[in-house]
Amino acid sequence: MTIRATLAAAATATALMASGAHAADCAYTEEDPFDLEAAQIEEIYACLQDKMAEGYAKEGDEIGTAYRGWTATSTRPAVAGPHGNRLLNTFVNDVAAEQYLKFEDGDFVMPVGSVLAKESVSLSKKKKTARPGPLFIMTKMEAGSIPETSDWLYAGLQPNGKVMKVKQSFCHDCHSAFDTQDAMGYPMEEVRVSN
Ligand code: HEC
Repeated sequence: MTIRATLAAAATATALMASGAHAADCAYTEEDPFDLEAAQIEEIYACLQDKMAEGYAKEGDEIGTAYRGWTATSTRPAVAGPHGNRLLNTFVNDVAAEQYLKFEDGDFVMPVGSVLAKESVSLSKKKKTARPGPLFIMTKMEAGSIPETSDWLYAGLQPNGKVMKVKQSFCHDCHSAFDTQDAMGYPMEEVRVSN
């Protein structure tokens, strides 16, 4: 092939990959997310993990760019139920790590400046695909600054790195149920990283 033909072929291949309906998705065949075995979850995550990190970082968001270098709180993603039956995987920054990894149930407050970032993977039964969902974020603000959410600021990034519109009360109405865990849900017990 001439150089020109090679380039043309490469361009066509790239275009095909980009336009292919689900070229970037990963296969997912299970009917019910709760029936997924650990190995299947690991396979889905292995297929998606690079794409996810690239997507969240795409618009240069500070958290979206940095969170993968933070402390992992679980040994693999897991399905908890809330957050749309997605696979969930939480990373926490240095300020948060020590306290978060205690998975404490009691009378404590996370240090100001704690940031918790949770990746999510959406599983579509209909399309039989797994693809990146939002990156859900919680940041602990100054004591007393947002009494209605226990000083947590809720936020999110879309899989393409764009900032999501988040209604604080929507997130906190559910998170406030974890009132002895400073409003944190924690990963499923079987996947928690031990301190
Ligand atoms: C219906 C209940 C519910 C709603 C609504 C909800 N969450 Fe959660 N969230 C949970 C549960 C349960 C967990 C822990 C499960 C897990 O991570 O495996 C969790 C975990 C998280 C975590 C990981 C830190 C931790 O341990 O709590 C973040 C970050 C988070 N949610 C952000 C958000 C944001 C942002 C919103 C609003 C856009 C939101 N959540 C709405 C139930 C909810």
